Amino acid sequence: MPSRSEKILIVDDQSSVVQLCRRVLGSQGFETDGVFSGEEAVAACDRQRYDLLIVDLLLPGIDGLETFRRAKEMYHDLVGIVITGHGTKSSIVDAMKSGLYGFIEKPFTMQELTSTVEDVLSRHRMEKENVRLKALVPLFEVHQAMTSTHGLGDLYRLILDTALQEAKGERGSLMHLDDKANELYIVAAKGLPHEVVATARQKVGEGIAGLVAQTREPLILTDGQVSDPRFLSLLRYPGQHSAVCFPLLAEGKLVGVLNLNRASIRHSFSESDKDLLSILCGQAASAIVSARLNEDLQRSYLNTIHILAKAIEARDPYTQDHADDVSIYASRIAQELAMADAEIEAVRIAATLHDIGKIGIPESILLKPGKLTPEEFEEMKKHPEIGAHILKDAEFPWKVVPIVYHHQERYDGTGYPQGLQGEGIPLGARIISVCDTFQAIITDRAYRKGLPPEKAIEILREVSGTQLDGSLVAVFVNVYQQVIGKETRAQRSVAV
Ligand SMILES: [Fe+2]
Repeated sequence: MPSRSEKILIVDDQSSVVQLCRRVLGSQGFETDGVFSGEEAVAACDRQRYDLLIVDLLLPGIDGLETFRRAKEMYHDLVGIVITGHGTKSSIVDAMKSGLYGFIEKPFTMQELTSTVEDVLSRHRMEKENVRLKALVPLFEVHQAMTSTHGLGDLYRLILDTALQEAKGERGSLMHLDDKANELYIVAAKGLPHEVVATARQKVGEGIAGLVAQTREPLILTDGQVSDPRFLSLLRYPGQHSAVCFPLLAEGKLVGVLNLNRASIRHSFSESDKDLLSILCGQAASAIVSARLNEDLQRSYLNTIHILAKAIEARDPYTQDHADDVSIYASRIAQELAMADAEIEAVRIAATLHDIGKIGIPESILLKPGKLTPEEFEEMKKHPEIGAHILKDAEFPWKVVPIVYHHQERYDGTGYPQGLQGEGIPLGARIISVCDTFQAIITDRAYRKGLPPEKAIEILREVSGTQLDGSLVAVFVNVYQQVIGKETRAQRSVAV
């Protein structure tokens, strides 16, 4: 008979029962131990780990159910079978409520014993398999977070929180691998001293996390069972007795390391925690790689936006700072309206770039000090379309193009390029229209002096409901009077 991996403890005050069980199960390849009381069983479990407890219901000291309960406190994974010669329905129900998986009534045959043990162990294996499936639920959240617009910081925290929650850890940290320095540093932490989080850096190959990063193999550590002194460093915080350290690998490349800790030796991390965490860490590593790529891409988008914004300024010196101010006002209104983060970002970027199409307008028209002729005005009216065309090619992840395209529409439908009306005009475009109008009124131009903000607000109110969306004018005026008007330009830039 091939040897089996499960270890079984048999507890019965009748030595003949203990001997019979050990002989039968030993012949099936199981490693077994036998004791004669609940107290001895608890002490045996304290010394080493068992997978299955076969326990007599009636024992001289603590009874079978209490024995199992105490042993299970040490090992969450433990399963049990109760033996009873006095089986009543109520004691069996109690046994099942205590988490025992099966029962055998005395006298039992060898066949009954082995089939009950096999049945219980296979059910337990299936439950462990369910743990794997359970891991997919939090992973769904990780995936959702990754695909939303949250940044890397949010993703790191979500991964750590999910791992702590699912593996029932009390403290932990997520470490990022700095490829160039070949060092790990903490990017998310829970329950660790602030100075540790801020300063901890670990070379690959040194310390626990460094070792896990080097070997790419997970480690489970339990105080009292650790012989290598290097490993004790992870258990150095007060009341901390069990730790698990996992490499985060995406397509064979190390991304970081996850550390989790528990304070109680009775609940040390088990193999099933390891199973669950290996799934979670695999998915988390892929999510981190995707999020980093996404952030790199966003950075390059922002560079492009910056270059485009400078191009607008270079074309018309009077518009210098204009786009920045419109962008600040517009984001403030978008925030005030509690728009989604991605929409606020779209409004902010569209506001910065709304006049980018003026690049395609001849300077003779763009910089003309006086009133434009009807022909020149027709030419000028092309700028939203030109802008939308330029930005379409930039393929920004935010919905910037429709806002830029419609920023010259008027609420009453008399604007351009399409003469859209009311809420048919994209909200972002209506917001920019209010801010752009305000900013144009207060800005000095070559041919006229800018008006004071109070006068500009008066004018906005006059065109509220015709040229501009009245409800947005009200929001703008409120935000301007409460916040924006009281800040310096520098303060405004920092606040948004
Ligand atoms: Fe414009």
